[in-house]
Amino acid sequence: MSNELQGRIALVTGASSGIGLATALAFAKAGARVAIAARRRDRLDALAAQIREGGGEALIVTADFGIEAEAQRAVHETERAFGRLDILVNNAGVMYLEPVIEADLARWRRMFEVNVLGLIAATQAALPGMRARSDGHIVNIASTAGRLATPNAAAYAGTKFAVVAFSESLRKEVYRDRIRVSVIEPGVVETELRDHIGHPATQKAINDWADSMRQLQPDDVARAIVYCVSQPPHVCINEILMRPTDQER
Ligand SMILES: NC(=O)c1ccc[n+]([C@@H]2O[C@H](COP(=O)([O-])OP(=O)(O)OC[C@H]3O[C@@H](n4cnc5c(N)ncnc54)[C@H](OP(=O)(O)O)[C@@H]3O)[C@@H](O)[C@H]2O)c1
Repeated sequence: MSNELQGRIALVTGASSGIGLATALAFAKAGARVAIAARRRDRLDALAAQIREGGGEALIVTADFGIEAEAQRAVHETERAFGRLDILVNNAGVMYLEPVIEADLARWRRMFEVNVLGLIAATQAALPGMRARSDGHIVNIASTAGRLATPNAAAYAGTKFAVVAFSESLRKEVYRDRIRVSVIEPGVVETELRDHIGHPATQKAINDWADSMRQLQPDDVARAIVYCVSQPPHVCINEILMRPTDQER
């Protein structure tokens, strides 16, 4: 077990699978105490057991980040249990893809609620404690889709462009408080995200494209996040854009 995050307290949202799960494990291995949040309790129980078996400390927070009050509660529960929150990883997200003309706007609204408004609500809840201590790190998970919009991803790309813009604006508001803001923009990562696309033709096309390359693994992204949050206090990694070597766009 390394100790680069010894004494740090983190909340990872969307920790029940994929990038969030890998990040929570990597944080615990690096010595952080970790609050793990998502909706699927059974997955969080299994992850907490894994962290504890490795000698780490985990707090389970069951919350729906599409509901602002629940996103805020997740932050407050972490602060209550661990005394403060040093690192917030806003990772919970969904990817619903379909052509605009066919779009189910209720699903698209829900995607904005989870990917954007939940992230904003959690961030807002975390800022007062961080500002009071002049220390804190917000890590927002965007995507290459936050830099490049493609067909059938109008709303998903919209949520990720919003995360990138929010992160840059936030950084300029809070840097004087010594709060760091980082945005991570991965390309294709092999996770469950594509299982919920909801439009069979688009899902097949994306899966075929992903299968044509050596995809990033959740651990690859987790390593980038650990790198970000383990820099000395005067260093803020603003942005990490990372793709599989085999991914062109
Ligand atoms: N996979 C990729 O290619 C890729 C590329 C770039 C960026 N990303 C971004 O990376 C993040 C993580 O995705 P992933 O690829 O690791 O996919 P994933 O395995 O599907 O993980 C998504 C996580 O978000 C949680 N989540 C979804 N809706 C939620 C809600 N309403 N409330 C609370 N938690 C919720 C899920 O937990 P529950 O279902 O248990 O709630 C799960 O833990 C997302 O923001 C995604 O947009 C992914």
